Parts: sequence; C-alpha cells; structure tokens
Amino acid sequence: MNAISDAVADCTEFSEKLREQFISAMGNAATGVTVVGTDGEGGRFAQTVSAMCSVSADPPTVLVCVNRRSPIVAATEINRSFSVNVLAANQAQVADTFAGRPEAGEPYDFGCASWTTLRTGAPVLLESSATFDCRLVDVVESGTHRLFLGAVETTRVKPVDPLLYRARQYGRCLPLGA
Ligand SMILES: Cc1cc2nc3c(=O)[nH]c(=O)nc-3n(C[C@H](O)[C@H](O)[C@H](O)COP(=O)(O)O)c2cc1C
Repeated sequence: MNAISDAVADCTEFSEKLREQFISAMGNAATGVTVVGTDGEGGRFAQTVSAMCSVSADPPTVLVCVNRRSPIVAATEINRSFSVNVLAANQAQVADTFAGRPEAGEPYDFGCASWTTLRTGAPVLLESSATFDCRLVDVVESGTHRLFLGAVETTRVKPVDPLLYRARQYGRCLPLGA
C-alpha cells in the first residue's frame, strides 16, 4: 500500500471506531419512546421514534428525527401533518410493532392498538401517555435523517407511567427513594 491508501485506511478505521463509540454512548442515553403517525394522501404510516424533543412553548413546537429511508418520511411530507404519541409503560409491544420487529403479530399492524384522530387527522394512540398533534412546519436534512418540526395544534394527556428505553431494553420510571 502507498502512503495515500494507508491514510485513507487509517481515516476509515477512525471514523468506523467513532461511529461504534457514538452508537454505544447513545445506547446509554435513556429516552422515552414515541410512535409517530401520519395519514392523508401520502398514505397512513406509523413508526417508533425515540428521537423526539420539545423545541419551544412559544409557539408550541416539537422535533422528531426519522431515517429518510423510512416510508413515513415521504408520506409526512405529502400529508403535512403528524402525531407524536408518547408510549405508556405497558406499550412495549406497540413499540416493537412499529419498529418492524413484533414478538407476535405483523410488523406495522395498526390493529395492535386502538386509535383515534384529533385536529390534523394523523393517527393518535388512545392509550398513550401523551400525544402532540402537529402540522409540519419545517424539514431539516441531517446525515441519514430528516428532522421534522411540528407546530402543535392540540395535545392529549393520560396520567400513566411512560415507557423508557436504554441499552436496547425497555424499562419504566422508578422515582428516587422508592
Ligand atoms: C425504541 C426504538 C426507538 C427508535 N427510534 C428511532 C428514531 O428515533 N428514529 C428512527 O428513524 N428510527 C428509530 N427506530 C427504528 C425504527 O422504528 C425502525 O425499527 C427502523 O426504521 C427499521 O425498520 P425496518 O427494519 O422495518 O426497515 C427506533 C426503534 C426502536 C425499537
């Protein structure tokens, strides 16, 4: 190998190592789990997404990050609306269904849970612990993902424990001192 191909190999090795370190560190970051849903001319889709956060309360805005290969991405851009359903602790099966890897039943089967709609027409999970019903207001491209910014039109809350995810395992909240 010459000096240039050695340098390219070193660089590739470094970026692969950094990618592995990133995935391992991110796996240690506990998150809630949501199912993002959309419906309309672009079709009805839902997908499990942990990359969700609040952006602003004035005006109420949320952000979700979805791999651009997911079919929900094109559908959301056509439908111009989406829901973010924060899963309850007893909805791990719903999370696995909309991650395409259910223990029982079919992947992405809407029949695994009960749904309704609010303002935008996006599918809303009846048993989720919170829902944000959003109009799509902005799309940002970053790496392999599309970042969807949603203006929240209405919300829904159910006072139940949320589902958590860390190190590829689901869990639930345990208050300190309990
Ligand atoms: C707990 C959990 C969280 C996830 N979070 C995200 C996410 O934030 N963004 C995303 O694009 N995919 C996320 N995924 C992956 C997708 O839900 C789905 O598994 C992935 O698109 C692969 O689908 P496929 O194998 O049917 O193509 C998550 C999966 C799980 C189980």
